[in-house]
Amino acid sequence: MKYKQEFAKILYEALDHEIQVKELEVLIEKPKNQQHGDLAFPCFSLAKVKRKSPTIIAQELREKIQSPTIEKVEVVGAYINIFLNKKIVSEDTVDTIIQQQEKYGALDIGHNRPVTIDLSSPNIAKPFSMGHLRSTVIGNSLAFIVEKCGYKPIRINHIGDWGTQFGKLITAYKLWGEAEKVKLNPIKELLTLYVKFHDEAESDPSLVEQGRNWFKKLEEGDEEATSLWQWFRDESLKEFSRIYELMNVQFDSFAGEAFYNDKMDRIVKLLEEKQLLVESDQAQVVELIDEELPPCLIKKSDGATLYATRDLAAALYRKKNYDFNLSLYVVGNEQSLHFKQLMAVLEKMGYSWASKMVHIPFGMMLKDGKKMSTRKGKVVLLEEVLNESIAMARHNIEEKNPNLTNKDTVAKQVGVGAVMFHDLKNFRMNDIEFSLEEMLRFEGETGPYVQYTYARACSILRKGNWEIAKAVPVSSPSWEKEWKVVSLLTEFTGSIKRAYEQFDPSQIAKYIVDLAQAFNKYYGDVKILEDNAEQQARLALVYSVTIVLKEGLRLLGIEAPEEM
Ligand code: ARG
Repeated sequence: MKYKQEFAKILYEALDHEIQVKELEVLIEKPKNQQHGDLAFPCFSLAKVKRKSPTIIAQELREKIQSPTIEKVEVVGAYINIFLNKKIVSEDTVDTIIQQQEKYGALDIGHNRPVTIDLSSPNIAKPFSMGHLRSTVIGNSLAFIVEKCGYKPIRINHIGDWGTQFGKLITAYKLWGEAEKVKLNPIKELLTLYVKFHDEAESDPSLVEQGRNWFKKLEEGDEEATSLWQWFRDESLKEFSRIYELMNVQFDSFAGEAFYNDKMDRIVKLLEEKQLLVESDQAQVVELIDEELPPCLIKKSDGATLYATRDLAAALYRKKNYDFNLSLYVVGNEQSLHFKQLMAVLEKMGYSWASKMVHIPFGMMLKDGKKMSTRKGKVVLLEEVLNESIAMARHNIEEKNPNLTNKDTVAKQVGVGAVMFHDLKNFRMNDIEFSLEEMLRFEGETGPYVQYTYARACSILRKGNWEIAKAVPVSSPSWEKEWKVVSLLTEFTGSIKRAYEQFDPSQIAKYIVDLAQAFNKYYGDVKILEDNAEQQARLALVYSVTIVLKEGLRLLGIEAPEEM
């Protein structure tokens, strides 16, 4: 990015300040084939301003492009292709990375302003679904990415711990539940009860009525209902925290839906005051006619508030408490309408900050092309998936590196990292096919591949007795063979910027795969450890690669073992 900016500035001068640096920067491309140059500027869009043909403009500009970092300028048709000075750029890049360490690539755009991130948010008494896995992994990575851009992330787990389903669950528990069984295996047992409720309710409609009553009691603070609910909640959170620990994911707040119980009246009152509430089918709704959206349900005929009401209260609470500059909701695509309505209602209430809220949807997790579902007992338990992945990773290590000392730790880092990387490597809106074998491959675009490359680079440094103190190179290589790796290193910031702008961690995942591939190719082509004058400079490059790979993985929430 640095050299792109520099090129844009040179063009800005060459064009007599006629076009802004930022605009020029956007126009600069990276030629597909590096033989055509490192950066290219197409002159087509200048034709109007300059009233000349783009090829003539390109010819004229060529003379004005001069800089120590630019070695050669070539004009091909309307394109100005520049070739960077390999020596200057390589040495500068490696120096910068070694100096800045894990801060390399950081962007100074957030100025420590808060960004709330609503992520994971599973529903209690239900298994942690694949959708919640995706939300956890994507949200966790986005938190690291916004932090890298200078913002202050606030991770909020909006636990689904309220709603009519708890009336149903209490009913089922009262009818068929056994305390011992629940204690032994809370989520499985509660799910069984919930499923049984739905099966039985098909032939016995009175159950639905009972469920409604229990929920009403719960809302009124009935002691028995509340203590059962509290118990279900505690047990569920215990199970969830095991998963979070495995994945090394932390939260700043667990304020879930129930947290807003005492904040519902205020919302309803505010909506009334602003004359936004209307009656429709005995329920209170906010109409969104101009917005071309269906009405947003606020309060049911029996007085119960809804998911949307809670999210309105949550949005107000978050604005007041965190004063967010940006408020992200990492929630599946099927809730798109809900978030559109939420933001539209807040706009109608006069809150301009509603425009700072962003729904970040993602695609589904598929198994053999079909949606993986938690309903009807057809559950894939995430904890089992993670543990299986760890076991497979452990098996791989046993085969490839039987003498490794901390096998368990590494197996966990690799197994969990594999699942996370698989989730993050494609644009988040794409559906992903679930396959443990695929995730754990050591070749191709996988987490283990990147981790393995990192470990290999670390081992080269160990063998070469690399020390930063000795880093002053005696003599430099020509940087020809190193060039692909170096030019990728200069692009790290660019990938972070794209990931931030598109709220898409795959930009970074793809980037580190590219870097790992380029590095492995370099490692195959050049004998890095050969005892010659260039060795120190080459090791410095290897060291820079380890810093960037590790930091790239960290931004995805994945650890980087030094040996595996
Ligand atoms: N618990 C919800 C679900 O599982 C997701 C909550 C998302 N966050 C929010 N603020 N609505 O579908």
